[in-house]
Amino acid sequence: MRNPRARPNGAEIAPSILAADFSRLGEQIAELKAAGCQMLHVDVMDGHFVPNLTIGVPVVRSLRQATDLTLDCHLMISEPDRYVEAFAAAGADMISVHQEAAPHLDRTLAAIRAAGCRAGAVINPATPIETLAEVLPQADFVLVMSVNPGFGGQQFLPNALSKLRRLGEQRADRGWHFQLEVDGGIGLDTIGDVVRAGAEIVVAGTSIFHTPNPRESFEKLRRAAELATAEKV
Ligand code: DX5
Ligand code: ZN
Repeated sequence: MRNPRARPNGAEIAPSILAADFSRLGEQIAELKAAGCQMLHVDVMDGHFVPNLTIGVPVVRSLRQATDLTLDCHLMISEPDRYVEAFAAAGADMISVHQEAAPHLDRTLAAIRAAGCRAGAVINPATPIETLAEVLPQADFVLVMSVNPGFGGQQFLPNALSKLRRLGEQRADRGWHFQLEVDGGIGLDTIGDVVRAGAEIVVAGTSIFHTPNPRESFEKLRRAAELATAEKV
């Protein structure tokens, strides 16, 4: 059974602004929007849950004022419950939290939904999908990491593929509705594999922004995702 929210012609490509040129962020977002981009992936890191620091609530607030694109906020932070409301108020549309950082994941996902956002659960490469079993019925999306979180530009870890496949099978068997997202190391060489494995939202940072023409790179990824979707049917 196909997820009713999936794009009919291919997975959604969510550019990760972590790899963008922050001095030209508004301009780069406008270019992507002109190419049909509908979602931005926002990587929030706290230097504690992951060994890197990035951006936080004020940047999400500015993005919200600058664009109507869907803002997908990936919280790579300890104690995410403390910040859910602030990200929602700043204008996030989707908020995901790591299973490894959220001991009360059921409560955290419920809080995200109560704040008016779509709620996602994320698992690291070393975390089995079984750890999400009890929250899958209420998750709006599941994000499978295909790199260890903390940095852009890392190499794709292929164990994400079987996780996507198995999550998709369980969803079909049980009639659940979460969307499947994948994040890390995705470019033209790997996008076909993740889409064929079931990814419906594909995050891409380096392979879009660290290229001479991000708009063209986005379009190529989308075309590759469309081709891979056609091969699935
Ligand atoms: C990694 C982040 C990713 C990262 C993806 O911790 O969650 O979203 O920015 O970047 P690339 O596409 O460069 O692997
Ligand atoms: Zn991310």
